[in-house]
Amino acid sequence: MMMFKEEENGTALRFSLHGHWSSRLVFVFAVTGSAVGLGNIWKFPYIAGQNGGGAFVLVYLVSVFVIGLPVMMAEILIGRRGRRNPIATMALLGEEEGSSRQWKWLGFMGVVAGSLILSYYSVIGGWTLAYVPKSIAGAFTGTSAAEVEAIYAGFTGNWLSVVIAHSVFMGITILVVARGVERGLEQAVRFMVPALLLLMLILLGYAVTSGGFAAGVEFMFTPDFAALTWDGALQAIGQAFFTLSLGMGAVMAYSAYLPKEMSIRRASTSVVIADTAIALLAGLVIFSLVFANDLDPAEGPGLVFVILPLAFGQMAGGVFFATVFFVLLGFAAFTSALGVLEPGVAWVVERFGRSRLQAASLVGGVIWALGLGTALSFNVLADFSFLRGTIYQNVDYLTSNVMLPVAGLLITFFAGWVMCRNSTSEELGGAGTSYKAWRLLARYVAPAAIVLVFLEAVGIIG
Ligand code: TRP
Repeated sequence: MMMFKEEENGTALRFSLHGHWSSRLVFVFAVTGSAVGLGNIWKFPYIAGQNGGGAFVLVYLVSVFVIGLPVMMAEILIGRRGRRNPIATMALLGEEEGSSRQWKWLGFMGVVAGSLILSYYSVIGGWTLAYVPKSIAGAFTGTSAAEVEAIYAGFTGNWLSVVIAHSVFMGITILVVARGVERGLEQAVRFMVPALLLLMLILLGYAVTSGGFAAGVEFMFTPDFAALTWDGALQAIGQAFFTLSLGMGAVMAYSAYLPKEMSIRRASTSVVIADTAIALLAGLVIFSLVFANDLDPAEGPGLVFVILPLAFGQMAGGVFFATVFFVLLGFAAFTSALGVLEPGVAWVVERFGRSRLQAASLVGGVIWALGLGTALSFNVLADFSFLRGTIYQNVDYLTSNVMLPVAGLLITFFAGWVMCRNSTSEELGGAGTSYKAWRLLARYVAPAAIVLVFLEAVGIIG
């Protein structure tokens, strides 16, 4: 349970998580709720499929543990030490650690990155919501692969339905954040993540008997490095940040009220393991079904929205499972979206003295408008292509492959080089072996890996 004791000197703090997390488990659930979302079930399988499977999955897993885990520990320790919203925390710690208040710009970059991410996240969240009534109506029952493809293409090709779905998703997100009722949602997360896990296990059972399981396992776990480009490796790193909600201060914000005595290492390890398990399960289910039905793993953003309805349409109780699946996925998307919107709203409330409703409408409205670019990328603007492709592809590339890794680099630099050893070891529970391992990763390994892959991918070194 959480206690909501306002801190007297916390006038600058209107973040919704006032009070202290009373148990590590509640904190872990909240961060897991932010981490588990479309990134695990929609994005991971589709970009793994586009990058040839095995080698991508391996680089992703290494990135999660070698880069993601130390960055998460850094975000948590910074957040807990600063005890403010991410922008104020970076300014405060920058000064306290003898550097500069200008570190606040790292917090700003997080708000910008988060807004861009949410702009397309909301569009895909909308697709998820739109698939709920389709599931209930039995639209997938007994359909062929060509028919589910046609349902997907028909839906996403209709700009009006996509815009409406995006508006509904964003509208609900704005309302929930405006009312500051995320607290209640922490209870729901307790149920949602295990339920999603259970459903994925049921689907795994179905996938095992589908005839494509061996091929799915092989695709995911046999690394073929010839299939992976440096750009693919950068996408794997970007996905590690994305799926763990790192690089935009979301985890930092959640950590502001983490009590001193809780172990940061244990909390972050639990989140990373839960998040990775759900992504791998989703990948196994989806690729088994792809190969069982002779479909293309590199289908793209429609992968989950085609493969799973096809399977639901064939299995016993499919209408029920399809409905539950899209409700749970929509819910998971939601608990992630709230965490992305919150820092920007908190900042507008604190900085400009607006009400939560005004701030949420303003920030959310801008994000909604930005999201139109992604919504239209799948229909009227599908042929409008520049730099990396459609508007959606550019926003995705800029955020996951540029902004989040760059922010991660700066966060590890701050925690590893700017903060003094005493401050970080105090937060991480002493200067033992695990602290030394963290410091090695944060100071050298993670930054070097990010810089190397980034420079290779953009072709500066080759
Ligand atoms: N991690 C979420 C997912 O996998 C998305 C997300 C939530 C996120 N908060 C974030 C991504 C902060 C980057 C930064 O679906």
